[in-house]
Amino acid sequence: MGAGKTVTLAFTGASGMLYGLRLLELLLAGSHRVYLLYSQAAQIVAHQELRLVLPSRPRDAEQLFRERFNVAEGQLRVFGREEWFAPVASGSNPPDAMVVCPCTMGTLAAIATGLSQRLIERAADVMLKENRKLILVPRETPFSSIHLENMLRLARCGAVILPANPGFYNQPANVQDIVDFVVARILDHLDVRHSLTPRWGEDDQANHIGKG
Ligand SMILES: Cc1cc2nc3c(=O)[nH]c(=O)nc-3n(C[C@H](O)[C@H](O)[C@H](O)COP(=O)(O)O)c2cc1C
Repeated sequence: MGAGKTVTLAFTGASGMLYGLRLLELLLAGSHRVYLLYSQAAQIVAHQELRLVLPSRPRDAEQLFRERFNVAEGQLRVFGREEWFAPVASGSNPPDAMVVCPCTMGTLAAIATGLSQRLIERAADVMLKENRKLILVPRETPFSSIHLENMLRLARCGAVILPANPGFYNQPANVQDIVDFVVARILDHLDVRHSLTPRWGEDDQANHIGKG
């Protein structure tokens, strides 16, 4: 996917809201168009982890992110939980890709079983049926066999299961480095260029981790 594509980004109520926000920031900075969705639990977790109040009204959320990030006119649209006339709700107008980050076990289960009761699940269902890229960033530990079976089912349908599992071989200096490790892998799978982390096997990487 090159520059200027359209990505649906969903925040759900799993720990790791920083990953989702950083991804939103970088997609907007890269001039991509973002359709943003979030669950009620995501609002609770955003407040718990970051003291961030995600407004219940989509228009207020658009205003919030316009003030927080550099957003061009029409670049960001936020949709409510049951806004069925949103473009993401139909296979006739699918985005280039969708990312659920962070992704709860509940939303993962709903997508795996095709429930589509909320716009997030419906949008993900559309991506699967239209064979478009769907990236899920689950966060839970440990996983039960139900979680694992749901993930396997989704992977077999073509979804990318990209858990929030940061590596430490880049010697992160702070939380931002840890967040960027995961976000870099998401951007890789969206085919969005970035320079967040050194690439494995490149000189910088070898020097960084002292392999020479
Ligand atoms: C602070 C906090 C952290 C949570 N962390 C996780 C988590 O990491 N993974 C998870 O699957 N659920 C987690 N939950 C539980 C979900 O938020 C809960 O199951 C919710 O119903 C999920 O709804 P959603 O999928 O619509 O966002 C957490 C809840 C809270 C309040």
